[in-house]
Amino acid sequence: MKIFIETYGCQMNVSDSGKIVYLFARQGYQLTDVSRDADLIVINTCSVREKPELKIFSALGRYIPLKRQRPELVIAVGGCVAQQWGERLLKRCPGLDIVFGTHQLDRLPELVDKVRISRRAVSLTGFKESPGGLEVMAAPAQGAISAMVTIMQGCNNFCSYCIVPYVRGREYSRPSAAIIEEVTILARAGIKEVMFLGQNVNSYGLQEKDEISFVELLTLVHEIPGIERIRFTTSHPKDMSETLIAAFAELPKLSPYLHLPLQAGSDDVLSRMGRGYTAAAYLEKVEKLRRAVPGIALTTDIIVGFPGETEADFAKTLEMLERVRYDQIYSFKYSIRPGTRAAKFEDLVSDEEKRERLARCQGRQDEISQEILEAQVGAVSEVLVTGPSKRGAGEFSGRTGENRIVNFPAPAAIKVGEICRVRIVAALKHSLKGEVLA
Ligand code: 5AD
Ligand code: SF4
Repeated sequence: MKIFIETYGCQMNVSDSGKIVYLFARQGYQLTDVSRDADLIVINTCSVREKPELKIFSALGRYIPLKRQRPELVIAVGGCVAQQWGERLLKRCPGLDIVFGTHQLDRLPELVDKVRISRRAVSLTGFKESPGGLEVMAAPAQGAISAMVTIMQGCNNFCSYCIVPYVRGREYSRPSAAIIEEVTILARAGIKEVMFLGQNVNSYGLQEKDEISFVELLTLVHEIPGIERIRFTTSHPKDMSETLIAAFAELPKLSPYLHLPLQAGSDDVLSRMGRGYTAAAYLEKVEKLRRAVPGIALTTDIIVGFPGETEADFAKTLEMLERVRYDQIYSFKYSIRPGTRAAKFEDLVSDEEKRERLARCQGRQDEISQEILEAQVGAVSEVLVTGPSKRGAGEFSGRTGENRIVNFPAPAAIKVGEICRVRIVAALKHSLKGEVLA
């Protein structure tokens, strides 16, 4: 039996897809990248931005006809769009067999069996107290040195533009003991770097009685032998506590890198987004972080063209790019998510205006990103070797603690998974070139 899986959206979806593949591998399935060879096709969807339904309908339009040649083929849609549409997706797409919600990942094998026996489509999208699937641990890929570990899921913030709280449910934190056990197993399997995932990692533990805090979790994971680097995403600026900032200075394995979504530079826009901070409060946190860890690399998310965003508001977003100097930004045109508070907001920004603002934002950021890379030339960095360079030519590729990509000629003695000292000799577009120091 073969499984084909298509994944859209965030890292959590990538991690969830890994878990799905693992659940089916346990039943003897093999992963294939040829959809027409599959006995099971899973589409793991995302509904955060743009028009997710169109993508899913077009994917189903490609896959459902495969049933003509393979009547036993089972097709399942999971993730955020599945959560939102539920049963309606089955009605809209005849030939689709399974819709499973964001809390039901662990039930997928059972649903596939059920469909194979009954030949009747099923939808399972209820929310549970603890999302099923969080305790499914996918084995790391052969030779992998980094692993993603979901530590919490869901969100209680309800930013006015965002669908996540509706499709992922309320915040739930995994028991710290299970996380520590998972990281210990990963470390024994050769993993050097863990990336903690959650919609809001810095409120880890706050909702659960008697659970430890995020900083306490980081401190415990820091002790696990074999783990060299710890990263996490995503953080909410309002939850960037003094203790978490201090942890960056105190825990050397905590990489000097942070993704801190800003969304907008105007206080009016931030307030209508319901973000719970002002631009000044955000900058203050950035200053504290930089005081604690000089050279910490920051990345962010930006939304342009939120309802009511004026040219003057947008100029404040650009100003924040100058003041913070992010390594990279992920910027998006605002798009209405039906059912969210902002969906009712008036004073919409035209698509043309949004496109133009996005281009200006990205254009300026590209320059800043390049300037930051160029400023690294001459520096010596600790680089975690991740594998052969994509460009081949006997080169290795690795990442600095700041998460910058470095390619360098590979001395024979160096192995994947090692941390080595590399002098940066040139800045290319999106990456650095280095040479290993003895
Ligand atoms: N429109 C545009 N971007 C959005 N994001 C979330 N919701 C929307 C929306 N309705 C962006 C935010 C968030 C990232 C994951 O996606 O910037 O941080
Ligand atoms: Fe969405 Fe805001 Fe929650 Fe992030 S913090 S997932 S943007 S509601």
